[in-house]
Amino acid sequence: MKRLAIVLSVIAVTLPAMATEKASLDKGKELFTSSQLATNGKSCNMCHPNGKGLFKAAGYDDETLGNIINQCIKNPLASTALDSNSVEMKSLLQYIKSLDSSTKR
Ligand code: HEC
Repeated sequence: MKRLAIVLSVIAVTLPAMATEKASLDKGKELFTSSQLATNGKSCNMCHPNGKGLFKAAGYDDETLGNIINQCIKNPLASTALDSNSVEMKSLLQYIKSLDSSTKR
């Protein structure tokens, strides 16, 4: 009986965690290139094609970079700032941090 309770609680803890999407580079790239973060149909990629010009920003710390990303979400994309712990923000950070000088213009 005790074992069953343990098994059930493990399932109860694991299922929601599996349903929650994890931050990833792919997700970051998808958010960067699509207009899903915007309310005006724009995307990050329209102004920063393939991350060009952003390779310097890859070296910023998460807080600084997150604030800049949110400025670009609030102004050019006319949308609301992302929470720093959100899957979206973590994914965008991963994507921008993956850029290097080969994307230099
Ligand atoms: C309408 C054009 C536009 C859009 C759309 C846009 N940005 Fe920007 N972004 C700018 C401009 C202009 C700057 C400041 C000049 C620069 O550094 O290129 C900037 C700066 C940045 C920087 C800092 C670059 C640096 O070296 O300091 C980052 C990072 C950035 N944007 C990310 C994003 C992300 C992520 C999105 C989508 C959520 C986005 N931008 C959407 C125009 C845009």
